[in-house]
Amino acid sequence: MDAVSPSELNQRLAAILAICQKMNSERDLGALLDLIAREATSLLDCDRASIFLLDRETNELWSKVALGSDQILRFDARQGIAGTTALTGATINVRDAYSDPRFYNAIDDRTGYRTRNLLAVALHDQRGEIIGVFEVLNKRSGVFTARDEESLTALAANAAGAIETAQLIGELKRDHAELEQQNAHLRREVESRYSTHGIIGSGARIQQVVRLIERIRDSVVNVLITGESGTGKELAAKAIHFTSPRARRPFVALNCAALPETLVESELFGIEKGVATGVERRMGQFEKAGGGTLFLDEIGDLSLTAQAKMLRVLQERVVERVGGRAPIPVDVRVLAATNKDLEAEIARGNFREDLYYRIKVIHVHMPPLREIREEVPMLANHFLREYCAETGRGGLEFSPGVLRELASRAWPGNVRQLRNEVMRLAACARGSRIEEEDLLLGVPPATPAPAPRLAAGAGKPESLKQAIEELERRMIAEALDGTRNNQQQAARLLGLSRQGLINKMKRYSLSG
Ligand SMILES: Nc1ncnc2c1ncn2[C@@H]1O[C@H](COP(=O)(O)OP(=O)(O)OP(=O)(O)O)[C@@H](O)[C@H]1O
Ligand SMILES: [Mg+2]
Repeated sequence: MDAVSPSELNQRLAAILAICQKMNSERDLGALLDLIAREATSLLDCDRASIFLLDRETNELWSKVALGSDQILRFDARQGIAGTTALTGATINVRDAYSDPRFYNAIDDRTGYRTRNLLAVALHDQRGEIIGVFEVLNKRSGVFTARDEESLTALAANAAGAIETAQLIGELKRDHAELEQQNAHLRREVESRYSTHGIIGSGARIQQVVRLIERIRDSVVNVLITGESGTGKELAAKAIHFTSPRARRPFVALNCAALPETLVESELFGIEKGVATGVERRMGQFEKAGGGTLFLDEIGDLSLTAQAKMLRVLQERVVERVGGRAPIPVDVRVLAATNKDLEAEIARGNFREDLYYRIKVIHVHMPPLREIREEVPMLANHFLREYCAETGRGGLEFSPGVLRELASRAWPGNVRQLRNEVMRLAACARGSRIEEEDLLLGVPPATPAPAPRLAAGAGKPESLKQAIEELERRMIAEALDGTRNNQQQAARLLGLSRQGLINKMKRYSLSG
């Protein structure tokens, strides 16, 4: 080896150190490879530098064609000088490329470059495994020296670490981008499921509801949703939430009918630790819905005491935890639903008028299915498609006769009952088309009773409302009978929620 003066050695070491510092601060793989190539070219006073990375899956070496280019060159990792270094880890210094049998001149042919001499060293990762080859080409004057070998080896040691880091960061970035994409996709799916367009119905009554929901999408006014059991009150509440700017914040549903009087306060407003022995601190539903929407289902069943507390929160926009001293501000949009006639409840003294006006800033009424019979075919087809999609069963359809028959039924359990009936028909379907005779298989007690006979008993013409109530009473009694007073089963048969059934039983003074 030529003698090296200490000052020359120092200069070289300083140059290598400076390059290493630059490498370590570059996190983008493409830019890093360019940087290493540029610095190596100038340090070793040569024409070109290439970094070949080993792709273990395909057993190929790949490299960017030239500085600044994004074109990629790939070749079998067993070929050429670079291939030999990748395979053996040996440093190879070739003085005359075209006379070396290992030289793979196809790359020159492809790039149009003429290699005279070259020096190749292996790149090792932290575990000592070879991850690629660092190659410099065409020394400007003469050939690569032993000192060049030392310099390139030193540079390669550091380059490998920087390349590994950049690769890892690139992978993390790609994974992150992929997760973000999946997340956005899932979010869109949830949002579209509960967008106003999840509410099916093309007639004026449903479209009115849809337009109203769209009109209030940007406001935070409280909304009261009324309608019989199974008419889509919760669906409407979710549509309001998921089309509003609060869509990405929580939607918290609370069934007021299921709240025991003693727990109302702690459930709604939370409780501080140690209020009673063993009590842990708990957030109330108002706080849980922070920034989002609180859906108070069956608000007509809230006790008068609870109504007074609720009114205070709606007026003052703060809650106080049970046993807490400081009021906590709440930013919550309140949606309430009921199947009760709240004005009649006010008249009876069961519901506070002031609370009624607080929650009924906007009123959405969901019509009973018997008043929008024209929607039955569209709804039935929609639920059938839903069944097919969920079960992976393709192409079921209704015969026109079935749709006519479904549209003529009474549906005391409204859309929920229709949905259950469609699911039952689909599950029992023998062919791909559901025919009228399929309706007769395992008929639930929900078949329409002949309406004229109902009126005949009373001896005088009955109003439609009375006739329907009588029919409803009878169907509920039959369902309870048929299930030996199993309320859960009877409710399912009728397409009612259990609470909906209990409410109706109370209304018709039926015991079960
Ligand atoms: N217009 C509609 N379009 C599509 N699906 C509907 C429609 N109305 C109701 N549904 C469906 O009917 C079922 C019952 O609706 P939902 O639970 O919203 O009724 P509800 O009025 O809250 O009933 P309850 O008073 O018994 O709680 C749900 O599966 C809902 O998706
Ligand atoms: Mg509901």
